[in-house]
Amino acid sequence: MKQQLEEIMQRAKEKLSLVKEKSELEEIRLAFLGKKGELTAILKGMGALSAEERPKIGQIANQVREYIEEAIESKGIELSAKELEQKLKAEKVDVTMPSKKTMIGGRHPLSSVIEEISRIFIGMGYEIAEGPEVELDYYNFEALNTPKNHPARDAQDTFYFTENILLRSQTSPVQARVMQSQKPPIKIICPGKVYRADEIDATHSPVFHQIEGLVIDKGVTMGDLKGTLELFAKNIFGESTKIRLRPHHFPFTEPSCEVDVSCWSCGGEGCRTCKGEGWIEILGAGMVHPNVLKECGIDPEVYSGFAFGLGVERTAMGRFGIKDLRLFYENDLRFLKQF
Ligand code: PHE
Repeated sequence: MKQQLEEIMQRAKEKLSLVKEKSELEEIRLAFLGKKGELTAILKGMGALSAEERPKIGQIANQVREYIEEAIESKGIELSAKELEQKLKAEKVDVTMPSKKTMIGGRHPLSSVIEEISRIFIGMGYEIAEGPEVELDYYNFEALNTPKNHPARDAQDTFYFTENILLRSQTSPVQARVMQSQKPPIKIICPGKVYRADEIDATHSPVFHQIEGLVIDKGVTMGDLKGTLELFAKNIFGESTKIRLRPHHFPFTEPSCEVDVSCWSCGGEGCRTCKGEGWIEILGAGMVHPNVLKECGIDPEVYSGFAFGLGVERTAMGRFGIKDLRLFYENDLRFLKQF
């Protein structure tokens, strides 16, 4: 029996030396030490031994069991260490490898122009107002002295949801909204998107940006309008910039004008940018029509005011020397990276 035990130990030793995976250890434990294991079978047969031999063999059997248990345990520890080592090797991070560059975004040229213009007006004491892009016909036209079938609607054809709900064709509806909700003195600008049913080309887009301005107080004159716009033009296009007011018609201002600035390319000599004119039109303006003041609950006998609407794309094109407005919307990084 002693010999059998030694054999068992020997075989356990051999088997353990061949083990490569931790899962095999459990098989070996069962094969030797489990209920139906070899060592267990021997211990069961000990009853047949003499009283003298029993403790001796029992001692050896215990030693063999301890030996196998320990051997399995240390093999397990050895395999765990190997596994860990392999894992670490496989998951090694090369800290010398160049990292992926994260791209940092920049301001869109239209946003920076809007910001720049807003700053100029904030410096003159204006506040920023906002209004919805999905607008009522009432605010976009009706309240602005432009009833249904008024011919001025033709030039501002837009996108309609229903007969009375549309995408605003100008930022002017914000004038009416502000006048109906605030008491004079009023001094606001409103930058925002506007929409028109125009085909897209180098100078037109169905979506573009305007900045509306509105000042209402006692004794506001056309001279105030001119002075304000002059200051603005010099700030944005340079100190030597001149402005020129040409008579025009808008239903919601009287008198109305279009405002040109001396060409930013040639300074007024005449060149390709200004088509030989020396001047470039950038905005529409005028004194707020008494009908509009009345509609908005402001007494035109007491108060007067001016309003203007500036094209942002046009201003940005001048500011950066851009010839085609579509570049603003195409999101081509080669273009955007230049700002
Ligand atoms: N809303 C006008 C346009 O889009 C511009 C404008 C604004 C004119 C304010 C006068 C006063 O053409």
